Amino acid sequence: MVTRPIQTSPIAARPIQLAPSILSADFLNLEQAVRLLAGSPEPPEWFHLDVMDGHFVPNLTIGPPFVRALKRITEVPLDVHLMIDNPHEQLDWYLDAGADLLTFHLEAARPGARGAHKGSSATIKDLTPEEVAFVLALLERIRAAGALAGLSINPATPVELLRPFYQHLDVVLLMSVHPGFGGQSFIPESLSRLNAIRADIAASEASVLIEVDGGIDVNTVSPAVEAGAELLVAGNAIYGQTDPVLALQNIRRAVYNDCCG
Ligand code: DX5
Ligand code: ZN
Repeated sequence: MVTRPIQTSPIAARPIQLAPSILSADFLNLEQAVRLLAGSPEPPEWFHLDVMDGHFVPNLTIGPPFVRALKRITEVPLDVHLMIDNPHEQLDWYLDAGADLLTFHLEAARPGARGAHKGSSATIKDLTPEEVAFVLALLERIRAAGALAGLSINPATPVELLRPFYQHLDVVLLMSVHPGFGGQSFIPESLSRLNAIRADIAASEASVLIEVDGGIDVNTVSPAVEAGAELLVAGNAIYGQTDPVLALQNIRRAVYNDCCG
């Protein structure tokens, strides 16, 4: 159950949460980038931190020291997205560093999976009972540490594979681009996948927040929310803009068809 206060628009009853991704910020001025939005009149609900290992995805970004450092300078909760192989080996580093929400990839979380799922379009088609148990244990480890537990899938992984986990996680993160880089275009099929996830969560009667990541901007945010997304990551559309504060506001307003003043 996600207990963090959420922003409600006066225009629509539906609450949404926004998570600017620092991947698109100036890495030489991350403190400034975080403080700029955190101190703005309408701060984000989260900051999204992309951890990449150069194996699960063809890019390499930040590690625990960065998460710890950012935790020191903001009270905005940290949404840490692990795009790494063998997340079971490193989960605790990010929990210790201060992740409030910790998400790993279903494609990467398999016993003995080292190197087996390289590439940003890594996918799996089914799960053995042993693999399901392995993922459940990782989710439990995150929750036991007091963080919210998230599970992510890539664009080619069937959404049905998430079903065994809904009763045991807080957030499902649907990748709407192939992970690894900011600034890519939203994959349109993600909308039907969001709808399917929403239906599966309703059927499971679990309380799970639906997060979407990749290609979210003033044009795609509204369809994504309509399809079921409640927590929306945006990198390029916020930190890639000359005025990130205005860009964040515009994305929020676009959800309620009040864009863009
Ligand atoms: C991509 C990352 C995203 C990225 C999104 O692999 O997981 O979080 O920052 O960037 P945009 O919003 O630019 O697609
Ligand atoms: Zn991400």
